[in-house]
Amino acid sequence: MIKLENISKQYDLGGTKVDALKDISLEIKRGDYAAIMGPSGSGKSTLMHILGILDSSTGGNYYLEDYDITALPDKEQARIRNKHFGFIFQSFNLFPELSAIENVMLPMSYAGIPQKTRKEKAIQLLQEVGLEHRMTHLPTMLSGGEQQRVAIARSLSNDPDLILADEPTGNLPSDKGEEIMQILESLNRRGVTVVMVTHNPEQGKRAGYVIELRDGMLTPALEVQNA
Ligand SMILES: Nc1ncnc2c1ncn2[C@@H]1O[C@H](COP(=O)(O)OP(=O)(O)O)[C@@H](O)[C@H]1O
Ligand SMILES: [Mg+2]
Repeated sequence: MIKLENISKQYDLGGTKVDALKDISLEIKRGDYAAIMGPSGSGKSTLMHILGILDSSTGGNYYLEDYDITALPDKEQARIRNKHFGFIFQSFNLFPELSAIENVMLPMSYAGIPQKTRKEKAIQLLQEVGLEHRMTHLPTMLSGGEQQRVAIARSLSNDPDLILADEPTGNLPSDKGEEIMQILESLNRRGVTVVMVTHNPEQGKRAGYVIELRDGMLTPALEVQNA
């Protein structure tokens, strides 16, 4: 599904250059459940942003199915991102002035889906994450776990092939984090590809495999370098 070849990302902070990713080559297959792990600052979020086409690399190639992502204009990149990907963040990123159902409906209105269909789909998605009784609540009226479930429902509104979750349980108590993990795992069993950043070794073990980063490099590459 995804192939990264020698991806690098350098941030330029007015003269100071930060190599956030160095020479990352990896493959993610359709239906995979991958965990990205590594210390703080090792490049996990940067890698997620590049995988999600939220940011572009400064070197290397990114292939998604038949698309050569790095070679595509921004507009085409955005179209692919909106069609294929769903995003979940540590801090939920809900719009505070919108109710749960409005938050789930919003990406569908950007996509030009008619109001009636948007509403029906949002209700169905909120039911799937067990929030049918919280549709009209504002985010501030919801617990953290509930907010993250709204965010998951929202991420599913475009029927994504790939869910990218950056520390989705990082702001939650462990029992609520477990609920989120179970939702992600049931999506994966239904065939959705899941890539999740986590600091939690137990969560890492539950994934199909772990992509481990250190100082912007994959750890196998590091071992070769240090050998
Ligand atoms: N927008 C940015 N501008 C400059 N440096 C950045 C930016 N984002 C991340 N970095 C740097 O890149 C490195 C990797 O960051 P990040 O991918 O956020 O790591 P992680 O998610 O593993 O904690 C860090 O050294 C960080 O300071
Ligand atoms: Mg991060």
